[in-house]
Amino acid sequence: MKQDATKQDLNSTTTRTLERVIQSVPTSDGAGVKLRRSLGSQRGLYVDPFLMLDEFFSDEPNDYLAGFPSHPHRGFETVTYMLDGHMRHEDHLGNRGDLGPGDVQWMTAAHGIIHSEMPQQTEGRMRGFQLWINLPSKEKMKPASYRDVAAAQIPVVRLPQGGEVKVIAGRFGDVAGPINGNGANLSTDPLYLDVHLPAGAEFHAPIAQGYNAFVYAYEGGAEIGPPSQARLLPHRAAGVLSDGGEVRAKAGATGARLLLLAARPLREPVVQYGPFVMNTREEIERALADYRDGRLATAA
Ligand code: CO
Repeated sequence: MKQDATKQDLNSTTTRTLERVIQSVPTSDGAGVKLRRSLGSQRGLYVDPFLMLDEFFSDEPNDYLAGFPSHPHRGFETVTYMLDGHMRHEDHLGNRGDLGPGDVQWMTAAHGIIHSEMPQQTEGRMRGFQLWINLPSKEKMKPASYRDVAAAQIPVVRLPQGGEVKVIAGRFGDVAGPINGNGANLSTDPLYLDVHLPAGAEFHAPIAQGYNAFVYAYEGGAEIGPPSQARLLPHRAAGVLSDGGEVRAKAGATGARLLLLAARPLREPVVQYGPFVMNTREEIERALADYRDGRLATAA
């Protein structure tokens, strides 16, 4: 009975179409870590409230060994999701966290954090993502906080046509991820799914109407949208979706691995200067002065 009800709900809503493809471009950050940046690769190229998405993926130690030595953040959240490898996070307050395969760190920089993110391996594969999520004006200056989420705490939902979905944030059907909008008091109410599909398999997920959403294909490619208007999302590109009540993806001939992100947009001005994201130029100047004077990361 329940399944039929779900099907009917999906049929009566609009399936989101693939509106725009943002190709990832090779770049480097930190002390010279090679990565691919899609969202955030040009000024203004973001999907409110998602400001940046970096994918790092290398078997070559020289691409990642330099890591991300001590650097500040203010005004937003950084979400690191490791697929392979081992990274250690340390901050000015003495917090320390180890990220291994499948682990997630959800850091709300807010008022300010000064931290380093350094590889704990000298060979082998380093692979994962860093996503930046903006905070609303009223939360940009709240105290910094962290959630370290071990891989084992992330629920995995098996799909009827094969494949699986890891629910990192928000809900997929009856399953809530460890980071959940209401519980975690995240006003952007983010959905963060890691979707693995075998060749030709279809995937449907409801998304709140009015939320902004995009899909990033990190392995293989997928057709996105209702069958009549489906468009191919290529490998290592972010596909920005139209509004609607659900997303549909169909994996190509080699299968696909996709990140699906959705959140309530903030619709506020974005003024970014490197690792500071505020609403006005004056607030950026204050962040720079606070960093210079050692006040960035003191309690709000
Ligand atoms: Co950082």
